[in-house]
Formats: sequence, structure tokens, C-alpha cells
Amino acid sequence: MKIAVASDHMGLEMKRALAAKLSEWGHGVIDLGTDSEARCHYPVFAVRACQTVQTGECERAVLVCGTGIGMCITAGKLTAIRAVVGHDVYATQMSRRHNNTNVLCLGARTTGIDAALAILQTWLETPYEGGRHDERLHLITQIEQGEGIEPGPDGR
Ligand code: RB5
Repeated sequence: MKIAVASDHMGLEMKRALAAKLSEWGHGVIDLGTDSEARCHYPVFAVRACQTVQTGECERAVLVCGTGIGMCITAGKLTAIRAVVGHDVYATQMSRRHNNTNVLCLGARTTGIDAALAILQTWLETPYEGGRHDERLHLITQIEQGEGIEPGPDGR
């Protein structure tokens, strides 16, 4: 799989470790920065990496900042991006099965490297289930496009 990686200064070390592991696992990795420990703005790097997913250049992206939260908020603003903060293996696995996430955000200050690798591996290996979840993802797409969504207030 071709995977974009990006981080801010807080996530640099973890990003490098994850990128090395992704290559070891046989994935193609594109590193969109940052490449120094100088303070920088995480939205810039989130957008760079997510754009490669939007264009199809990369299938997925992995973003690292202090908590994963800023990266995830930014990624969630972008069309066709479904991002998750990978806090634990179970929720991250569900984000693939039910939400077809294409961007994984990790926190270098909140998650140790061993846990991050386990979360990353699960995220890469877990397929999307489709079926009833397609309708829900379609509603998200409609919201992205500024359309109203059909289901009533009870959500059916
Ligand atoms: C940078 O100080 C920090 O705010 C950033 O890495 C991230 O945690 C934001 O969500």
C-alpha cells in the first residue's frame, strides 16, 4: 500500500519510527514533513498528507502530533478524508470496519511506540465491512457537499 506520513515537531520522532516500520512491512512511504524539530504548524502537514489521499496518489495517510487531535481535526475538514485518533487497538479497528477511515492520527505524547505500532498494524490489516455502513458514509459525503441529509431526526 502507498502511505503518506506527516507530523509536526512533536510527532517527528514517532513519525520516523512508524515510517521505518511501514517500509519494513513492504509499504511505499511518502514523507511530507516536517523534517526538523523546529516548531511548526500541524495543519500544514495534515493538509499536505491528506491531499495525496484525495488525489489518489496515496491510499492512506498517517499523521502524528502531540496528541493526534489537532491533526485529526484538520483532516476531518477535508473532503473524502475520514480520520481517526488511534487511541487504542479496538476503536481503531472499528474505525476501519465501520467508518472506512483512510487517515490515522497518533499522539506522540499520549501513545507509546509499541502501542502505536500495534494500532497502526491493526488499522492497516482491518478491512471495511461495507453493507449498512455505506449508507452512513454516503450521508457524510452529502454533508461534505453541503447538501441536506434525508433521514429524519430519528436518524432512520
Ligand atoms: C504542539 O504543541 C501541539 O499542540 C500539537 O503537537 C498537537 O498536540 C495538537 O493537537
